[in-house]
Amino acid sequence: MNKEIIKIFDTTLRDGEQSPGASMNTEEKIQIAIQLEKLGVDIIEAGFAAASPGDFDAIEKIAQRVTNSTVCSLARAIDADVKSAGEAIAKANMKRIHTFIATSKIHMEHKLKMTPDEVIQRAVRAVSYAKEFVEDVEFSCEDAGRSDIGFLKEISDAVIDAGASTINLPDTVGYKLPSEIGEMVRIMSDYTKNRAIISVHNHNDLGLGVANSLEAVLNGARQVECTINGLGERAGNAALEEIVMALKVRSDTFANYETNINTQEIYPSSRLIANITGIEPQPNKAIVGKNAFSHESGIHQDGMLKNRETYEIMSPESIGLIKEDTLVLGKHSGRAAFKDKLAKLGFTLEEEALNKSFERFKLLADRKKEIHDADLTALVTNEMTKATQVFELVSLQLMDCSNGVPSAVVKIKKEGKEILESGIGAGMIDAIFKTIEKISGLQGSLKGYKVKAVTEGKDALASVTVTVSFSNNEPAIIGHGLHVDTMVASARAYIGALNSYLSMEGMLKKR
Ligand code: KIV
Ligand code: ZN
Repeated sequence: MNKEIIKIFDTTLRDGEQSPGASMNTEEKIQIAIQLEKLGVDIIEAGFAAASPGDFDAIEKIAQRVTNSTVCSLARAIDADVKSAGEAIAKANMKRIHTFIATSKIHMEHKLKMTPDEVIQRAVRAVSYAKEFVEDVEFSCEDAGRSDIGFLKEISDAVIDAGASTINLPDTVGYKLPSEIGEMVRIMSDYTKNRAIISVHNHNDLGLGVANSLEAVLNGARQVECTINGLGERAGNAALEEIVMALKVRSDTFANYETNINTQEIYPSSRLIANITGIEPQPNKAIVGKNAFSHESGIHQDGMLKNRETYEIMSPESIGLIKEDTLVLGKHSGRAAFKDKLAKLGFTLEEEALNKSFERFKLLADRKKEIHDADLTALVTNEMTKATQVFELVSLQLMDCSNGVPSAVVKIKKEGKEILESGIGAGMIDAIFKTIEKISGLQGSLKGYKVKAVTEGKDALASVTVTVSFSNNEPAIIGHGLHVDTMVASARAYIGALNSYLSMEGMLKKR
């Protein structure tokens, strides 16, 4: 039997990036897009081109790198946004413009201050203009969940006539119950028939994003919009991994549908997003949480030993969760073993990136006896997602943390020149960051600081993530640092944030 494809539209790079503290640099976005393509998502919403020059740049670069997924940019229903979106995705192999305007009474009256007729006109204008750039146009009725169904039909007729081929019905505020979403989707898909694909985009304010998306599929939706780890505005979006695995594991109920997702890429995708954003899924998060496949109680463990299916409805392998290191590397491992190991972990690096990663691996191997898969994944991801290195840490010396005044001596390389500075602070981190600021001439306010051991053991690699705000009217920047010494990792993270900020500032000046 021919199954119908449920298109997976991933918006981690757009709605997901709207999670507080989740803003990413261009290199990070490119690596995520490459991973999403590997995962098999049909459409990658790469960003909101008109939002900032940095967003535009990232979308443009993603459009040039990705070939097997459609690359999409969001645009409000205004000419300037649609133009930016069209230009940013121009070079994509498959491209889509996603334009939207609010359709609920409360949004039209209070936010847009427009009449329903004016909203229809704006929507039609945006779709018609988008068609000048691309064939594939999606139109979203923002806050469809609280919109009048008659108005949804009317605006859909108008935008379909103007050339939209996907009508998205977002539950923008996560208000709907599954039965209500099901009814809205059934009415709208019966009404639009084969004139357009009906899509859903469910927010998770009541924890119903995934349930609502599944109910929508049963009622005629053929595209679901979602994010990895459920990232997104407020309580987030429906989680891609949960929707996809529910469709697969419950193939009895969803017998007529399938997705193009390679489920074995789910776990690597989840880890990449968590490492880049510094936002870890809760431990008991379905599918990708740390405990999702752990069995703690004796009765469960006993059952598992007898037959895994007693307590496991899907295998960890099915989501690409590799439980054991196949080969642990150490300081005597050569380049070939290193390259082979990276290939097994799913990394194919170009020569320069491979050389740099190998160099870092060797330095790490001098300090750490055994290097595990997680260490390598963290190290290579860190190497591949770095912004242009304006500043580079050369050395760090610290003095007295208990009785005297904590002080740091930092040496940084900038454009080939080494600069040495010292400074004091309330504690070591304060002293390090203040000294880095003295050298760079840029002051930031620290919004978040997280440290995590990548693996177990006293010699574990410390992974530090900082969130820094360098200017009041721009989103805070994330920086990452890795080292067996937490203080060095912290210095690297702060310098990483500075470099990301400067690469975005550079974009501001360029356009
Ligand atoms: O939640 C929402 O309504 C959106 C639209 C822009 C699709 O994110
Ligand atoms: Zn949304």
